[in-house]
Amino acid sequence: MQAFQYYSPTKLVFGLDCLKDNLSKELQIRGYKKVLMTYGGGSIKKTGVYDKVMAELKDAGCEVVELGGIEPNPRVTSVEKGAALCKEHNVDLVIAVGGGSTMDASKHICAAAYYNGAAWDLVLDASKIKKALPLFTVNTIAATGSEYDHAGVITNLETKEKLPIGSVLLWPQVSFLDPSFTYSVPDSQTIAGSCDIMSHFFEAYFVRDLGTIAQGIIEAALKNVIKYTPVALKEHDNYEARANLLWTSTLGCNGISQLGSSVTAFPCHAIEHEVSAYYDITHGIGLAVITPRLLRYFLEKDPSVSPRYVDLACNVFGLKKEDYKSEAELIEAGLVALEDFYKSLGIPENFTKIGITDEHFKAMAAHVNKYWIAPLSLFFVPFTEDDVVEVLKRCL
Ligand code: NZQ
Ligand code: ZN
Repeated sequence: MQAFQYYSPTKLVFGLDCLKDNLSKELQIRGYKKVLMTYGGGSIKKTGVYDKVMAELKDAGCEVVELGGIEPNPRVTSVEKGAALCKEHNVDLVIAVGGGSTMDASKHICAAAYYNGAAWDLVLDASKIKKALPLFTVNTIAATGSEYDHAGVITNLETKEKLPIGSVLLWPQVSFLDPSFTYSVPDSQTIAGSCDIMSHFFEAYFVRDLGTIAQGIIEAALKNVIKYTPVALKEHDNYEARANLLWTSTLGCNGISQLGSSVTAFPCHAIEHEVSAYYDITHGIGLAVITPRLLRYFLEKDPSVSPRYVDLACNVFGLKKEDYKSEAELIEAGLVALEDFYKSLGIPENFTKIGITDEHFKAMAAHVNKYWIAPLSLFFVPFTEDDVVEVLKRCL
C-alpha cells in the first residue's frame, strides 16, 4: 500500500430538506454578512432552490449580491465578473448554488477576489493563489464532486483552453446536498453526470498499484451508478436513486478512492478537457465516448495490465470466469458490458456524430503534454503525444 496524506476540511450536510435552518445556522456561526450568491442559467429559479437559499440568507441577516448566468464549461469572463463584485461589495462569503460549473467558477472567484491581475493567471500558476474567500456550496446535480474537492475547471474561449485550477485554499467550507434538488435535472444531464462520476472512479481504478480498500470503494461506487442511473431516469423523483447517485458523485473527486494507491494522472479527463475546450461539449458525454477506446488502447499497448480488466468484468459487471474460454474473452465481455451500459444511456456512438473532426487532434495532444497536471509518462500505460492522437482518432 502506498503512503498518503489526506486533508478534507469540508463539512457535508446531506439529506432531504438539509438546507432548512442548517444554512442559516452555518452562516451565523461563522458571522458572514455579505454574500455573493452565484448560479447558472436559471434552473434554480424554476425549481425553487433559489427561494430556499434566499430565505436562509435572510434569516441569517445577510446582504446578498448575485451573479447568475454562469455557463456550463464556465468561462473565465464570468470569474472576472464575480471577482469584481466581491471587491466592489466587500463580500465575505461566496455561496455557489448549482452544478459543477457554478461551483468551479465560484472557487476561482474566491481566489480572484484577492488577486490584482487577470484571473486566468491563477489557472496558469496556482502558486499565485495566496488567499481566498470562503465558499459554501449548494449542489443541484450528481456529477463532478466539486462540492467536496479543492479544484475547478475553467474555460478560456479566447485561447481555446480548458484547464484545472486547484489549491488547498479552495475547499468549500460547507456543502449542502439535498438529493431532492436533483429531481429536476434533465435526463441528458443525469446521464452526463453519471458518466462523469464513473470516470472519476475509473481514473482511480486504472492505476498501477491499486490499494485493496480503494478497489472496494471504487467497485462499489461503479456498481451504484450502474444500478441507480436507469432508476433515476425512469423515476425522476426516486429519492433512493438520487441520493445514491449524489453521494457517489460527492465521493468521486476528493481523493478518498485513491488513498493507498499509486497516483492517478486522470488520463481520460486530460483528453476530454481538450475536446471540450475546442468543441464545448458536455464533459460527461465526452468522457463516455473516450473511456472504452482509452481502456482498449491501454490494454493493447501493454497486455500486462490485464488483471484490472478481469476485475472490472467480474467485480463490477458480475461476469463469471468459468463462463469464458479464455481471459481475453472475459475481458472483452467486460468491455462490451461497459459499452452496452453507455449505449443504453444513449451516449453518442462516436465524436463524428457530434461534429468533431481530427482537425485539432495534434494541437490537443501537444496541449495535454504541456499543461496537464501530470506528465503523459504517468498515464496508466505511459503515453506520448502520438498515443493521445491515436485514442482521439479511435473516437471518430
Ligand atoms: O445552469 P443551470 O440553469 O443551473 O442548468 C444546469 C446546466 O444547464 C443544469 N442543472 C444543474 N442542476 C440542475 C439543472 N437543471 C435542472 N435542475 C437541476 N437541479 O445542468 C446543466 C449542466 O450544469 P453544469 O454545472 O455544467 O454540470 P456539471 O455539474 O456536470 O459540471 C460540469 C463542469 O464541471 C467540470 C466539468 O469539466 C464541467 O466544466 N468538472 C469539475 C470537476 C471538479 N471541480 O472537481 C471535476 C470534473 O471532472 C469536471 O471536469
Ligand atoms: Zn469529470
